[in-house]
Amino acid sequence: MSSHPTKFQRRQALSRVFTPATPVSRREAFSGRFEQISAIVTAVMEPGRHVVLYGERGVGKTSLANILSELLIGEGDSRRNFALRITCNAEDNFKSIWRRVFRLLEIEEPEEWQYGDPNPDDIRHLVAGLSPSRIIILDEYDRMDDDVTLSKMADTIKTFADAAIDTKLIIVGVADSIDALIGEHESIGRALQQVQMPRMSTRELLQVVTRGFSAADMTIQDDAVVRIAKLSEGLPSYAHLTALKAGSRAIDDDRSVVTLAHVQSAIADVLDTHILRSTYLKAIQSSRVDNLYAQVLVSCALATKDELGYFSAGAVREPLSRIMGRRYEIPAFAQHLKNFMEIDRGEVLQRRGPARSFRYRFRDPIMQPYALLAGIAAGIIPAEFESELFAPDPEVDWDALLRGLLDGDDQ
Ligand SMILES: Nc1ncnc2c1ncn2[C@@H]1O[C@H](COP(=O)(O)OP(=O)(O)O)[C@@H](O)[C@H]1O
Ligand SMILES: [Mg+2]
Repeated sequence: MSSHPTKFQRRQALSRVFTPATPVSRREAFSGRFEQISAIVTAVMEPGRHVVLYGERGVGKTSLANILSELLIGEGDSRRNFALRITCNAEDNFKSIWRRVFRLLEIEEPEEWQYGDPNPDDIRHLVAGLSPSRIIILDEYDRMDDDVTLSKMADTIKTFADAAIDTKLIIVGVADSIDALIGEHESIGRALQQVQMPRMSTRELLQVVTRGFSAADMTIQDDAVVRIAKLSEGLPSYAHLTALKAGSRAIDDDRSVVTLAHVQSAIADVLDTHILRSTYLKAIQSSRVDNLYAQVLVSCALATKDELGYFSAGAVREPLSRIMGRRYEIPAFAQHLKNFMEIDRGEVLQRRGPARSFRYRFRDPIMQPYALLAGIAAGIIPAEFESELFAPDPEVDWDALLRGLLDGDDQ
């Protein structure tokens, strides 16, 4: 690159580091996640232990799986494809999964497979012979819904563990708990290390953004990076998308320093290009100008939630009343909550629990920050409420946090 890169080149550099729609695949682009990495690495080294990595969509499971190979083998190690990953889908069955795994391993498929299905012991036999041993990652495991396959897979994990073979399985999927992913197979409990992938901490998000800009030869002001981290609600894809759009705004202005004003004007770009745009518009559409759909949805986004993202109708009351500037009781918006679960409103909410104490949540957690950003962009949230939402938390030492990131104290 010349010493004076063009705007086009600068934008290209930016879109190489901020990849909202693509999992990270290089170690340098990966931030944080030390706890999860260490739990996985420890389990993988323990004989007879396999791993299940689960969490919400978009928190970074595939990214972590992608860089495991690099993390587990030292530099200069010649083992190719030490960790290999396949992506499961709804049509998969036991045989199709192992076919893909063996194809990646460059192992010829036994002839018998043409006439019948392999069983867990056949798989163990083939895998036990692998030298060097490998890490086999089965991603998007939640997409498989064939009970026979799931139960054969559970038996396979147990067989692998009982025989203490060196090759390890890592099962990755979207789930609230491992029972939801693996089914209730008590006997494999010991054989499986459960690793939950939580949303990113503010610190991790700050790092994603600061490091990204530095890799693109740009910097971002403190209040601007803090704003991106807070808007993202722990979801790295928002941090990537907002940073990408804010950075582009700065490049448009011929600047290499990204400011809070760039972040604020980037919100509209984020909303316009986001994959959830049409679902959001569907959810709030109405022929009546005085309808409350957008207000209720942003209040859902602001409602206090439990660790699985569920909230009660009562928790929507508070933010909605602040937004509307007068007291709103549940009957005024109960129908809205119900409608949000319907197909013609994009099924943005789902609920569980008995009538009268329903608990709601966003079906796709990614919708939550979207509804909030859309509320901000539409001017639905009163300024005073908005500045409260983004006020730096008093218990966080932001200065120390940001200084620490620049010093690279944990890299
Ligand atoms: N540790 C990380 N550091 C930087 N960016 C990340 C990290 N983890 C995830 N991302 C980004 O977040 C987004 C979602 O990640 P992904 O791995 O696809 O999540 P999941 O598999 O859980 O749905 C992608 O844009 C990815 O680039
Ligand atoms: Mg994934």
